Amino acid sequence: MNLKESIRVIEGFPKEGISFKDITTLIGDGETFKQSVDAFVEYLKDKKIDVIVGPEARGFIFGVPVAYAMGLGFVPVRKPGKLPAETIRMNYALEYGTDSLEIHKDAIKKGQRVAIIDDLLATGGTIEAVAKLVEEAGGEVVTLGFTIELTELNGRDKLKKYDVMSLVEYD
Ligand code: PRP
Repeated sequence: MNLKESIRVIEGFPKEGISFKDITTLIGDGETFKQSVDAFVEYLKDKKIDVIVGPEARGFIFGVPVAYAMGLGFVPVRKPGKLPAETIRMNYALEYGTDSLEIHKDAIKKGQRVAIIDDLLATGGTIEAVAKLVEEAGGEVVTLGFTIELTELNGRDKLKKYDVMSLVEYD
């Protein structure tokens, strides 16, 4: 099966008018899950990446196996109050209101080359905040990798200074 076929689309979730891309069917199948992880690894393999970063919760699903397959460490970015040691926090805009994400202040060594992996690029607000956290922590953002990109939302416009790649696109 190809990756796009393995993603279940649910109309009207979580609310009317939204066409939800459900990755549980992709990761529930050993072949397509491996295919997606292998595609990230293939893309990143010559980029001299030192560490993989991913935001909770769905970013962990892809970021962790990519880090493991490349023999690299994984650094979690989490919602506020979850990380126990000293953190850096970044606020970012949502459609209505704001949200925050945190990273451990000492999780990245100065100058480390970082690939950030998440399941979805929609508006790009989440990943922009994650990239800023990585930079503030001293890392260099090399690539932003997504399983799914919703091209209509123009997330890439926000991320022009980064190398952006995605495995499956929807418009
Ligand atoms: C979803 C998704 C991305 C983000 C993309 O996360 O996993 O991280 O939204 O949206 P954006 O490009 O418009 O910022 P969500 O906040 O739903 O959290 P979850 O992974 O914990 O479900």
